Amino acid sequence: MNDAIPPGTLPLSARAPGKCIVFGEHAVVHGAPEVVFAVDLHTQVLVRPAAAMSLNGDREATDRNPYFRAAVERCWPDGSPLEVRAVSRIPRAAGLGSSAAFVAALAAALRSARGGVGRAELAQLSYEIERTAQGVGSAGDTTAAVGGGYLVVNGGDGPAIWTVNGPEQRWEARRIADPGWVWVVCFSGIPRSTASAVRAVTARLERPDGPRLLDEFKGVAAAGLRAIEQEDRRSVAELLSRNQELLRTVGVSHPRLEALLEAAAPAAEGAKLTGAGAGGSILVLPQPGKEAELVRRLARAGGLAYVVRAAPEGVALVEDRASS
Ligand code: PMV
Repeated sequence: MNDAIPPGTLPLSARAPGKCIVFGEHAVVHGAPEVVFAVDLHTQVLVRPAAAMSLNGDREATDRNPYFRAAVERCWPDGSPLEVRAVSRIPRAAGLGSSAAFVAALAAALRSARGGVGRAELAQLSYEIERTAQGVGSAGDTTAAVGGGYLVVNGGDGPAIWTVNGPEQRWEARRIADPGWVWVVCFSGIPRSTASAVRAVTARLERPDGPRLLDEFKGVAAAGLRAIEQEDRRSVAELLSRNQELLRTVGVSHPRLEALLEAAAPAAEGAKLTGAGAGGSILVLPQPGKEAELVRRLARAGGLAYVVRAAPEGVALVEDRASS
């Protein structure tokens, strides 16, 4: 699954998964481990030559959409016009990695048209595009979109599948065996900005108790990694709650997220917010067999819930009948 993206000829289609962070969001920006899985909700792009550059019919997209602009600048330097269509099952601004999936899929299609690209290079490139567009953040989301499956960034032992270099730090990515679990993710309907949540948490961690809090984040993520490797659901459930406590303490929970966590509790083993928080989504480990009940409970509480599992594969070219 670490195969390269092969060379291709336009029109080309590629698709990439979103992601769910199980442990370590925010702290990963400050060097802590993050456990993440690529989720089986995808964004697919179709790219073909055209008379004018557009994204889903919008000819101003290179001005309006910083992800699109950064991807085109990095992967399509001659700027010859392209029609790009993107469709996605990942809700946007929901903490589920829609922008990373879009960036990885578009970069894969464009670099395929330019002779192909290795997966490690694509992980670096997708991170740089997202970082340019967003201004802050870690390589976790783009690593999941490119790598697929369960991954740990900044943690674990054994050989790294790749290292992504950022301006202030580097992120090593390692694979974790998929425990085969079904999860429920639920979007609160409240969109938020990753960049402002990251900046707020960064400021919070600069206060006197910041180093102690960061150590606690690190401890929870390292224990969470071990628990997932041992397929120990009970420990994972407990650690999800501890991670949620820490995220509350650094100020990125939200009354709507707390209401969803409460609604989920009777059918859940454990749960926490996932992604940048301050809105966005929660991730729930359901009590086995109670997935449908959980979805009903969350819908009654006003959330948009999905029953998900890990997508084993990262970004890939796909046949798209609309392109032929
Ligand atoms: O909410 P999302 O999908 O943008 O995820 C953000 C995760 C953070 O750890 C808060 C930031 C990052 O880039 O790792």
